[in-house]
Amino acid sequence: MLKLKVFKDYDEMCAYTAEELMAAISKKPDLVLGLPTGSTPLGVYSNLVNSYKSGKVDFSRVTTFNLDEYYPIDKNDPQSYYYFMFNNLFSHINVKKENIHIPDGSAKDSDFEVENYEKMIEEAGGIDIQLLGSGINGHIGFNEPAESLNLKTHKVTLTQSTIEANSRFFNDISEVPKFALTMGVGTIFKARRVIILINGEKKAPVLDAMLSGTVSTNVPATLLALHPDTTVVTDEATMAKTKKG
Ligand code: F6R
Repeated sequence: MLKLKVFKDYDEMCAYTAEELMAAISKKPDLVLGLPTGSTPLGVYSNLVNSYKSGKVDFSRVTTFNLDEYYPIDKNDPQSYYYFMFNNLFSHINVKKENIHIPDGSAKDSDFEVENYEKMIEEAGGIDIQLLGSGINGHIGFNEPAESLNLKTHKVTLTQSTIEANSRFFNDISEVPKFALTMGVGTIFKARRVIILINGEKKAPVLDAMLSGTVSTNVPATLLALHPDTTVVTDEATMAKTKKG
């Protein structure tokens, strides 16, 4: 059963989510966190940075695993998820560099990289809380709508719709990488708790599908209804655009 939390607006969604993460860290200082990139979590990250600066949270024993990374891409490329995470979160908090994990978009051997990533998550004891956003097509991580989905971390060919959606961050659509390395749906499902943020009119159909009482690999986010502890965090404006709103 999905737990649904509807907040007044995006700021409140992010404040709640940041509080949940900080409460979990204070209960378990060596928490293992799964993290997304994208526009949606930015408010959560700025809340975490501000709370860290005011001494409310200590990340020194926290371990992180990012969901995905473009492939191929260099870490220092401003479009890389590596760059994004350091720019928006990691450089501003006291998480240890050796505890940060992001699939290596410059790995020569992508098969080894994805297998090793899965192994590192297991060795860390698994993910305690996986934070997620969703694509407008319902993708989670880079698990794109399809008849069947991969369970484990894998290399994926990006769909045209995701290339178009992500081209807003690039000078030209031709610069968007064609592949990515992503956790699989099984990797995500092994997380003990999932928090998925759904914000914005364009995402209302995904929320609708998630609340429809059915699941489909054609809208990967709907599968989370099968996870034992998933919270969907949204706001009133997004909710109002759904059939239930
Ligand atoms: C990012 C990721 C993606 C995004 C999704 C939504 O690491 O895995 O699934 O969460 O594309 O992106 P935004 O938040 O930019 O709408």
